[in-house]
Amino acid sequence: MSAVVKAIQDRRSIRAYTTKKVEEEKLNQVLEAGRMAPTANNLQNIRFIVVKDQETRNKMVDFAGAQGFLKDAPVVLVGFGEPGDPMRCGEQAYTVDVSITLSYMMLTATELGLGTCWLANFDESKIKEILNIPSNMQVVAMSPLGYAAESPEQRSRKSLEQIVSFDKYSD
Ligand SMILES: Cc1cc2nc3c(=O)[nH]c(=O)nc-3n(C[C@H](O)[C@H](O)[C@H](O)COP(=O)(O)O)c2cc1C
Repeated sequence: MSAVVKAIQDRRSIRAYTTKKVEEEKLNQVLEAGRMAPTANNLQNIRFIVVKDQETRNKMVDFAGAQGFLKDAPVVLVGFGEPGDPMRCGEQAYTVDVSITLSYMMLTATELGLGTCWLANFDESKIKEILNIPSNMQVVAMSPLGYAAESPEQRSRKSLEQIVSFDKYSD
C-alpha cells in the first residue's frame, strides 16, 4: 500500500489529545505538505495561522462549540483566504484552495503519527477577532494537531455505488 493510501485509510477525526508537544520538524513537514497543494491558477489564496499559545486556544474554545480538545491539543491550525470573484464553475477559489491544503496537511499529520480533526463548528467572526485576521479574509476551517488520546474505529462510509456513477448521472 502506498504511503498516501495508507494515510487516507488510517486517518480519523481525533477529538481527544495528549498534551505532548508536536516536534518542530513534524510541524514543518505538515505545513510543507500544505504548501505543495494545488491551488486555482496557482494563486495560492491560502493563509494559515499555527496557534500554539495556550491562552489563545482557551479563548477559541468558547467560540468553537465548546470543543474542549482544542485546548488540549498543543497546536491548532486555522485556514483562511480572501473571498473574491467566483471561479467560472461558481465556486470560490479560496474555500477550495484552503480545503485541499488542509487536507494535505491532515494526511501528512496522519503519516507522522499525529491526530487532526476538521472543524467547521465555530463563530467565524470571533475567531477572526481573537487571531487578528483582517476583515477581508474568511476562515474556512480549523484543525487541532497533536498526539491522539483515543483511537477510534473507522467510521462508516457510503458504498461506491452510492456516490459514483459512470458517464452520466444516475440515481
Ligand atoms: C466540512 C467538515 C466539517 C466538520 N466539522 C466538524 C466539527 O465542527 N466538529 C467535529 O468534531 N468534527 C467535525 N468534522 C469531522 C466529521 O464529523 C468527520 O470527518 C466524519 O464524522 C467522519 O469521521 P472520520 O473523519 O473519523 O472519518 C467535520 C468534517 C468536515 C469535512
